[in-house]
Amino acid sequence: MGDVLEIEFEDLDGKLKGTTLVFAGDGLELGSIASDLDKKLGGQIAKAAELDGFGGGGKRHIELLSPAKMPDARIIVAGFEGDSDDKGGWVNTGGRVAGLVAGARSDKATIVVDMVSSSTAPEVAADIAMGALLRQYAFDKYKSQAGNEEDEKNSRRLKKLRVLTAKPDKARDAFRRREAIAKGVTIARDLVNEPANELGPVEFAAECEKLKDLGVEVEILDVEALEELGMRALLGVAQGSARPARVAIMQWHGAKSKRQKPLCFIGKGVCFDTGGISMKPASGMEDMKGDMGGAACVTGLMAALAGREASVNAIGIVGLVENMPSATAQRPGDIVKSMSGQTVEILNTDAEGRLVLCDLLWYAQERFEPRFMINLATLTGAIIVALGKEYAGMFSNDDKLAAQLSAAGEATGEKVWRMPLAKGYDKLIDTPNADMKNIGGRWAGAITAAQFLQRFVKKTPWIHLDVAGVAMASGKTDISRTWASGWGVRLLDELVASDCEK
Ligand code: BES
Ligand code: MN
Ligand code: ZN
Repeated sequence: MGDVLEIEFEDLDGKLKGTTLVFAGDGLELGSIASDLDKKLGGQIAKAAELDGFGGGGKRHIELLSPAKMPDARIIVAGFEGDSDDKGGWVNTGGRVAGLVAGARSDKATIVVDMVSSSTAPEVAADIAMGALLRQYAFDKYKSQAGNEEDEKNSRRLKKLRVLTAKPDKARDAFRRREAIAKGVTIARDLVNEPANELGPVEFAAECEKLKDLGVEVEILDVEALEELGMRALLGVAQGSARPARVAIMQWHGAKSKRQKPLCFIGKGVCFDTGGISMKPASGMEDMKGDMGGAACVTGLMAALAGREASVNAIGIVGLVENMPSATAQRPGDIVKSMSGQTVEILNTDAEGRLVLCDLLWYAQERFEPRFMINLATLTGAIIVALGKEYAGMFSNDDKLAAQLSAAGEATGEKVWRMPLAKGYDKLIDTPNADMKNIGGRWAGAITAAQFLQRFVKKTPWIHLDVAGVAMASGKTDISRTWASGWGVRLLDELVASDCEK
């Protein structure tokens, strides 16, 4: 985890200390503070912009080092994307400019947000601060020495950020909930980045238990309890590992009535996926430490909802196992009985995620009768073939819920693309030997996986998100710099905030 970044909001007449960042719109339009600064510097900003062909707007920036009259200052003028009204937009802008100021050789910075209408200023300032927090995240706990120049540059961090804005009190209020959400994203990232030797099912469950500090009720089911419940599909995946399975149940009771039907979020938590006896090839297998990305998102989401005291009842359930080959591992051809009573012929032990999830989906419906349930899983390589790393695959039995989640995706930039479910695909998992088999054929691999899950869904509105392409091995963005993006925490928080808290 990166160092803590202290963020303060101050009035626009606050002092410009440390690295100072101001915005410039198209045509080098400057806000009043930047204009005053330019005047004080005898037009140096305008001159530098001209020299560099910088016309404001967009994603470019210029930098003034040690300007005359302010020899100790470093001033960054960043393009201002004025019309980006969506939340994803301002958070991303915050990440971008935080990256600019953090690259400077000072751990203190001031960002001036004076080019927005005063009615939206608090939200914009808070979004920018949230983007800075997300950008600041690093995973360097296992680096014992600084190393080369690149390392040195990457390790430069801000310690203190001041955001100057028209209504600092309101911005501070607006920031509080965003801080809780960013904390949730951080938890998800930490879990996904952590290597599997350090984070097995038991250790993951211990991380879930920490949510008790936020007022979340946490229950951990051990192997005996899972056997008692009949979760043979889930347990079959874990039986080849020396590390025992766990299921963690995290309940947040934030609604006025404790009886209000809960929302259920369910995560695949395969702490490492070797493929089992149907073993994966060596190349790239290290990525399978992230095969608990769904569970990490659910855990981070629960922390976010509790941290911002969402007025909703929400339950997170994560299935924690390790998929290993060994003398006790399950074999291709084995037939297991799931908690639902349906039997599954295991034709490929590497199609293990669906086996974990099917028991959790059943359990969630039996015990909680949820208003809806959403599961997240790094389920198939096929979804990466279909959608790459831009969108997660969304499968649903409920058009309204699917539309709401799509909208939340556009608002946060964590986008989902709906994929089909249909009888014709469903029959691809029929087998003569049991109620179903755990793989389809070569075609439509992400869809047959979803069809498998749907056989465990009754009438409950349900979404399956296949996050194999987005939860891990993520590219660098303005707000995410590590292997784990923490994808989905902001998306689901947004769904809860805009569609469930009324
Ligand atoms: N965890 C993998 C899916 C995966 C692949 C996630 C790449 C992230 C990146 C999953 O358990 C798996 O192995 N799926 C198989 C299913 C197949 C055997 C039907 C796959 O996608 O190849
Ligand atoms: Mn697998
Ligand atoms: Zn897997």
